[in-house]
Amino acid sequence: MTSAEIRTRFLEFYKKQGHTILPSASIVPENDPTTLFTGSGMQPLVPYLLGQKHPEGKKLVNVQKAFRSADIEEVGDNRHTTFFEMLGNWSLGSYFKEEQLPWVFEFLTKEIDLNPEKLFVSVFIGDENIGLPKDTDSAELWQKLFKKKGIEAKIVEIGSQENGYFKGMQDGRIFYYDAKKNWWSRSGAPEDMPAGEPGGPDSEIFYEFDYIPHDQKFGPYCHPNCDCGRFMEIGNSVFMEYKKEADGSFKKLPQQNVDFGGGLERVAAASLDAADMFKIDTLKGIIVELERLSGKSYDELATKPAFQVVADHLRAATFLIGDGVTPSNTERGYFVRRLLRRAIRYWDTLEIKDAGLWALVDTVLEFYKEDYPETYSKKEIIKKEIATEEEKFRRTLKEGLKQLEKRITYLRSLVPEAHTVMLQGEDVFNLLQTYGFPLELTLEIAEEKGITIDVEGFKREMEKHQDLSRVGSEKKFKGGLGDTSEMSIKYHTTTHLLNAALKQVLGNHVSQRGSNITPERLRFDFSHPEKLTDEQKKQVEDLINDWIKQDLSMTSAEMPKIEAEKIAVHSFLEKYGDTVKVYSVGTEGNYISREFCGGPHVERTGVLGTFKIQKEEAISTGIRRIKAVLE
Ligand code: ALA
Repeated sequence: MTSAEIRTRFLEFYKKQGHTILPSASIVPENDPTTLFTGSGMQPLVPYLLGQKHPEGKKLVNVQKAFRSADIEEVGDNRHTTFFEMLGNWSLGSYFKEEQLPWVFEFLTKEIDLNPEKLFVSVFIGDENIGLPKDTDSAELWQKLFKKKGIEAKIVEIGSQENGYFKGMQDGRIFYYDAKKNWWSRSGAPEDMPAGEPGGPDSEIFYEFDYIPHDQKFGPYCHPNCDCGRFMEIGNSVFMEYKKEADGSFKKLPQQNVDFGGGLERVAAASLDAADMFKIDTLKGIIVELERLSGKSYDELATKPAFQVVADHLRAATFLIGDGVTPSNTERGYFVRRLLRRAIRYWDTLEIKDAGLWALVDTVLEFYKEDYPETYSKKEIIKKEIATEEEKFRRTLKEGLKQLEKRITYLRSLVPEAHTVMLQGEDVFNLLQTYGFPLELTLEIAEEKGITIDVEGFKREMEKHQDLSRVGSEKKFKGGLGDTSEMSIKYHTTTHLLNAALKQVLGNHVSQRGSNITPERLRFDFSHPEKLTDEQKKQVEDLINDWIKQDLSMTSAEMPKIEAEKIAVHSFLEKYGDTVKVYSVGTEGNYISREFCGGPHVERTGVLGTFKIQKEEAISTGIRRIKAVLE
């Protein structure tokens, strides 16, 4: 079954069960400063899981593009990818376990036609210490569902994943695991959740590749949560009915929710009975093109990881750039840079001579043009960004490698008889600063060259640098407001309005990159890939002037950082104390801007005058600058 077919079948199946189809949200999360990327379908729905009313109703379904940056270094085997699509369906206080488990089982066994004999499930064993009960309801529901297929499903208790390696399958089909495996929240297990976070027990479905023998490297016996590759998780129903309290206890939410997430790529791989994810259409298409360009075969063991890395990273970078994230050394852009640079290094091992990485964007997007028109329409911008980054990287790679080698030779000459040479944190930091070598790249090269790296020293250098730039920005900030003239304070408040207006008009990928205020004007730098049209500039001006006319109040409140991070915009590079000040424009429930900020600000927007953009220009790739005045 093709990925497009699975997408459609999933959406249509849940539509038949009364769900409203939602479009995929951006990979750049909206109004969620706690995370850089959308890594699961539920992230954009958190307020609704907590009880807010969703305009599209209580039963929703979508296919969400997602990116998990933590997996970048893992890519290079047959199952890890950083970008993926998540099939998701939600009950926002509507149905619960009794409907969800039969539906997902029907979807997998009838719509996708998976053999139920190859499906295994897990349920939550409970945790008495924190008052969380064992999920016997789900276990019983599963038993009935398998019975209808003529399968006697034995329930067994495993507990921890580690226990599993000693207990093994025990002829089971339904497995009780602990909260490390069968509890889901954005921050993981119950003890890792911050106060206010929703979560709940979950029930995972695994597909068994019965032709893959258990690998004893992982433990004596195999079980569904074994990492050897025989079992693959293809879907997870989270019964999200709890919220963590400040005292560490768990309280029921006002509504019982279902949050289902299933990896589209994994379902597709199961439908092909292929343990190698790179055999599914969307990834295979890229592999075939790479084979054509390189004249090498994916089936050669030595080059396989290179194919996998290039295919995954290029696809991820394509979608990230499509959602407005451009390569840079900070925040989100840093991940795109890392993806592209890692892809290029592996690309080079394939010895492709007459093409650039960017040329494969067409192949990547061929599989997505119907279902992701917003990304497809940016095809040319994406190609350009990748080509530019590739060119930049090749230039610096050459120079940086030369410097690195010189340094290594020098260090070796100091300790000729030593077996290993250690590259100091400062050297590694300089490679990043001057040549754009991310730490991971330097680590990879170091490994090739048989030297070690002082990673802790590198981190200290990074922190020193960040402290310095913070001091720098604080000074600038003071400079701007040092005279505490009325005009400077006005421009300071207007800067918050501008930040909010740009996000509304251009999208949530916009993030502040710099600000400078004098009594004559404001200057604001932000991330955005292209020039603003006259129309967009006018929309920004109109929006701000409208907010000024509404004479909105500007209020501040001090709160714990952990709470503030959930509601307000802040810089990912800044370090904040445990208590922060948040400035908000508007009224409770209707804020148009909330930012971490030290102030000072005007009390009401009505005093600001008329906002006018004087200049809009690029200051570097992907970074724009606006100069504006109040008249
Ligand atoms: N939100 C759940 C997950 O990501 C479904 O696994």
